[in-house]
Amino acid sequence: MTAGGQTGQSTVQPVVHGGSAAGGEAQREDKALDCVELRGVGKTFTHGRESRQILADVNFTVRQGEFCAIVGASGCGKSSILRVIDGLLEPDTGSVRVNGRDVSGPSADIGMVFQQFNLLPWKTVQENIMFGLDSLKLPKAVKRERCQHWMSVVGLAEWSGHYPHQLSGGMQQRVSLARTMAREPSVVLMDEPFGALDALTRRFLQQEVVRLWQEGERTGILVTHDIEEGLLLADRIFVMSANPGRIAATVEVPFEHPRDEALQATAEFAEMKEHIWHLLTAEISKASSYVRSRSGPA
Ligand SMILES: Nc1ncnc2c1ncn2[C@@H]1O[C@H](COP(=O)(O)OP(=O)(O)O)[C@@H](O)[C@H]1O
Ligand SMILES: [Mg+2]
Repeated sequence: MTAGGQTGQSTVQPVVHGGSAAGGEAQREDKALDCVELRGVGKTFTHGRESRQILADVNFTVRQGEFCAIVGASGCGKSSILRVIDGLLEPDTGSVRVNGRDVSGPSADIGMVFQQFNLLPWKTVQENIMFGLDSLKLPKAVKRERCQHWMSVVGLAEWSGHYPHQLSGGMQQRVSLARTMAREPSVVLMDEPFGALDALTRRFLQQEVVRLWQEGERTGILVTHDIEEGLLLADRIFVMSANPGRIAATVEVPFEHPRDEALQATAEFAEMKEHIWHLLTAEISKASSYVRSRSGPA
């Protein structure tokens, strides 16, 4: 993970870039390090005669090894962005590139972790992780080795023969994380992965994800509606507007890791949180006045 310095007693000046067509971020020179690149992405869903644009001119770039968060209100199009990157949803306009190649469908380069753990209930921990490796053309011994390795990394080696219903929610999400990581994708997309967990388990798993990102050169994109979660994990936060979904602002997170409870108690952290909250609420009120103006006077 990249990070700037923690600023001690001084007031944090959030670095914010607007969400213009220029990319919703500062222009950079180091193009070679771009890993995920969205340009002018738009998507409209049609139901019968009614159509609704859910993404409009979405632009952002995530560099190799970077961990970015997408924060936005429910329904603003966060999951749709991940599905576009994963090749599960085809945009109507714009381009999506991962590692310099246009995305045209699901690829082994990209892994996804969902809020619903999506484990197969009739398979054990080990079998669930092996199942994730099934489609990879690797020798069986390599698959077994990776499976063992990732069960240990997430602390479940002793639970390898247990079934999902015998595990807590946090443990099930660890299996799901290990199943994705064992495929060794270069980009990991996480769609509100901790949303179904209690606060304490969520905090442990957040720390675990930070540790995984510090150990290897991985690129991550986390979708969340929790601003604190974005501030605890991400190098940069893309703040989304709704109706239609766009990147309204990009915020650089200036805190070094470990980002712990002590950091959460600082004025700088509270200031960053409030700043992003203001960006979000401004976008939500803009979006609702847009909806009101389209539906005519009340
Ligand atoms: N396949 C689909 N068909 C029609 N509408 C969809 C489809 N997928 C998502 N939507 C709509 O698009 C909007 C954005 O959805 P989503 O990306 O899941 O938002 P978020 O993840 O931010 O909650 C929602 O209003 C949702 O109902
Ligand atoms: Mg979603």
